Amino acid sequence: HIDTKDASKRNATAPYLYGLMHEDISHSGDGGIYAELLANRAFQGSNWNTTLLPNYNGSLIGPSENPVEPIAPVLTAWAAIGNGTRITLDRLHPLSSAIPTGIEIDFPENAEGEVGFQNFGWWGMNVEPQTYNVSFYVQGNYPRNQENTTAFTVSLRSNLTGEVFASSTVSNVSVSFIDHTFVTTTLHPNATAPNSNNTFVITFDGDTVKGQTYYFSLFSLMPETFMGTPNGLRKDIAQAFYDMNPTFLRFPGGNNLEGVSPQQRWKWWETLGPLTDRPGRAGDWGYYNTQGLGLLEYLQWTEDMNIERLLAVYAGFSLDVWGQSGASYPPDRMQEILQEALDEIEFCQGNITSKWGSVRASLGHPEPFDIKFVEIGNEDWFSNTYPYRWEYLYNGLKAAYPNITYISTAYNEASTSFGYNISIPSGELWDTHHYEEPSFFVRGFDFYDNWQERTNNTGVEIFLGEYSALQIDTPTGIVDFSFPADVHIMYPRLVSALSEGVYLLGMERNPNVCKLSAYAPSLQDFNWYNWTPDMIGFDADPSHTVLSASYWLQLLLGSYRGTQTLPVTNSEGDFNPLFWVATLDEDKNCIYLKVINILGDSVPLSANIPEAYRSVNGTILTAADLNSYNYIYNQTEVVPKPLNISTSAPTGYGDDAVFKWDVPRWSITVLQFDL
Ligand code: AHR
Repeated sequence: HIDTKDASKRNATAPYLYGLMHEDISHSGDGGIYAELLANRAFQGSNWNTTLLPNYNGSLIGPSENPVEPIAPVLTAWAAIGNGTRITLDRLHPLSSAIPTGIEIDFPENAEGEVGFQNFGWWGMNVEPQTYNVSFYVQGNYPRNQENTTAFTVSLRSNLTGEVFASSTVSNVSVSFIDHTFVTTTLHPNATAPNSNNTFVITFDGDTVKGQTYYFSLFSLMPETFMGTPNGLRKDIAQAFYDMNPTFLRFPGGNNLEGVSPQQRWKWWETLGPLTDRPGRAGDWGYYNTQGLGLLEYLQWTEDMNIERLLAVYAGFSLDVWGQSGASYPPDRMQEILQEALDEIEFCQGNITSKWGSVRASLGHPEPFDIKFVEIGNEDWFSNTYPYRWEYLYNGLKAAYPNITYISTAYNEASTSFGYNISIPSGELWDTHHYEEPSFFVRGFDFYDNWQERTNNTGVEIFLGEYSALQIDTPTGIVDFSFPADVHIMYPRLVSALSEGVYLLGMERNPNVCKLSAYAPSLQDFNWYNWTPDMIGFDADPSHTVLSASYWLQLLLGSYRGTQTLPVTNSEGDFNPLFWVATLDEDKNCIYLKVINILGDSVPLSANIPEAYRSVNGTILTAADLNSYNYIYNQTEVVPKPLNISTSAPTGYGDDAVFKWDVPRWSITVLQFDL
């Protein structure tokens, strides 16, 4: 029985329950949502991993081990064109202190025909009718190229056939000998290339450059971006996030916030301003991060999607994911870390007369970005120093910014086996992560039902900061995080969505406790990844972007959010195999009933819905098999479909009208009852 009368029994739903988590893992940033199409555009650093992971084999098996290797600039993704043309790394003509490495290109004395070099992109690049902005820096080599004017032809070509899709020649460029000349142009393909095996090419007439040398640095090939934001996001991936109706973005990590060493941590101030000032860093996930997607770009992302910001600040701990070792700032150096975080928040939301607010304004965004949530660190249960680090940073930040809600990454409840004592003040949040088996999520449906009593009414609230059904059920229930993983789910399956959905409904039923959630990781480049499963998979070809079963689950739950929970009293049977939650949308004046059936048979549902709500429609997510999943070549195995059940509208009178329906097996349904 759904009680739509007694308003005193309702609770306000948690307005930010469904959000996004993003960090650069599995090339989700560089090569992923960051729209730049050139790989290794500024020769900043190598992948730590020289072995590409399996591609397109449809395997359900996770990634192989990432060997740790030194980071050094490399020529990865670049190649010379023309007999005798030579490209080498060059550090004698640094573009800036942040971008010290470029390439030297030498043309032979007998150069003729077309000579130059090309970039293969992030395992290819998408070419379609749109405007591509091209830029690069070039320096001449006096006295050999005395003439000092050069024609650069840039083009987009098929790597298979050589077909040119777009070309532009910048003539008579007066190339400086003493520093770099900035060259820009645009490309406008007329047609979509048949596939993404394409390259970006810069060529010269061999006759005009024979015997000459040039030094190039910091190339860029930018397609049109989400909302047209400069230096912005890849359109299709950002649109997929946007379509989920998320309410916040957690950034920039995850482990990738922490750095494999304190020196390599995410230093927000090094991610700002012109690309010539961004040195990048050795990301935590085995490849160099350009930091083209920097703090301001993250903030812009939230503005473009009109969502709240959940800023994760460095908390004085760096975790070497591969070496499984960590380094903590000692108590007497925590002031440095606090100041970093204070400055970062000031950069985001300080007014333009403040030191860092004025920097933000100088970068083109005088309006402040309000910060609603700040997370202090990431997964600090890996460290026994969090008690003093949390306390120091929390106290310092709360004193300066009392209106922000703070999030601890460890808590007594979870950490007692380590002997920690983290006290989280009432009204602040604990970020708990669950990479588990499907049965864990189903068992956890009622986990938060008596949370406050279990935690002595301390008022600590919950952020489910990362979660996924990581592996199928095993006899031990122990989750295997090792690489290579033999039991990891490669792509989220129907069973993932069902079980994660049950857990999320449990959270929806407890809006006084459960405030935020985000699936992780959110993105995976099919060509190079660290972790599976992921919510969205992609490669260079937008038609290959795969929205997983877990993606659709969240789109459904996040898109139909009532404003008030409605009490449901259950006269026959308890939860399992059906799980449900009912909410009232006061704006639309409708009732949402979310129902999940985890059984392999249909289950009859009978619900009292007041007669007034005569019209019913719904959307269902199900598939042929519990193990069904979406992939490049079967993208629609598990997708939501409209449910035609208008004939099942409630029958009967008054508040006792009844809606009867057989809930299909293995399904997630949102029913909407309108007046
Ligand atoms: O989501 C992948 C990783 O899982 C995150 O970086 C980390 O926070 C967690 O261990």
